[in-house]
Amino acid sequence: MAAKQLLQEIPTDLLRERMPRHVAVIMDGNGRWAKRRAMPRIMGHRKGVDVLKDLLRCCRDWGIEALTAYAFSTENWGRPTEEVEFLMTLFERVLRKELREMMKENVQIRFVGNLEMLPDSLREEIDRAVEATRVNTGIRFTIATNYGGRQEILQACRSIAAAVKDGTLALEDIDESIFERNLYTNGICDPDLLIRTSGEMRISNFLLWQMAYAEIYVTDTMWPDFDRAQFHTALRDYQSRERRFGKVGIQL
Ligand code: IPE
Ligand code: IPE
Ligand code: MG
Repeated sequence: MAAKQLLQEIPTDLLRERMPRHVAVIMDGNGRWAKRRAMPRIMGHRKGVDVLKDLLRCCRDWGIEALTAYAFSTENWGRPTEEVEFLMTLFERVLRKELREMMKENVQIRFVGNLEMLPDSLREEIDRAVEATRVNTGIRFTIATNYGGRQEILQACRSIAAAVKDGTLALEDIDESIFERNLYTNGICDPDLLIRTSGEMRISNFLLWQMAYAEIYVTDTMWPDFDRAQFHTALRDYQSRERRFGKVGIQL
């Protein structure tokens, strides 16, 4: 209990001024976590929700402005129907259950991805949560659902092309800021730190444009075991990096 309480404050070995503004997470390893315990995969997803809830609070406690979590990729539809259905129902239930708490904690929720393909009942919960939390001024919490980086880039190209075609945008005016405005993440700064659990060293179609200069941290820990202490380690690693953005670093 004492250790838990201590971790509510920013750990003393972390520098407040070097905290990432935006952390993105690929929450991977739920299935393997469950399998190792001889449980069905869905138990891993269920435990994963609690971990995400605690990470969100931790980010808030430690002064991080934005958290984005990869909850379901465009490729995840290829999983067994029962697992996909379980996940959709889980998202819906969690949103319904947590909305009051999110309001109390001043969280602003956003969703990125192609939401049109989600079940109607889930979309209703999403609309309700996004609408209700729009006025909140605390941490910006973005959930990537039916999200694919390539699809996001393609839909941005389509809407830019349509604007050029109907004459509202000149070809020469297309630049990075116009492009960014047409992405799902419009208005959210790029992630400074990407964390992937379960040891896989890949991006799996997540935030391809936005990740251009993110620092990447991979841990072997499965998502359901990722806790504040592990997040602390990830942040310590992040703070030890030198972000150069293509320039020349500090010469030692
Ligand atoms: C991540 O865990 C959660 C989702 C993709 C929804 P996985 O379900 O991918 O777990 P593993 O990778 O099979 O262990
Ligand atoms: C990435 O995990 C997607 C989410 C965490 C939602 P996957 O388990 O789907 O990725 P791959 O298949 O290992 O690349
Ligand atoms: Mg996986």
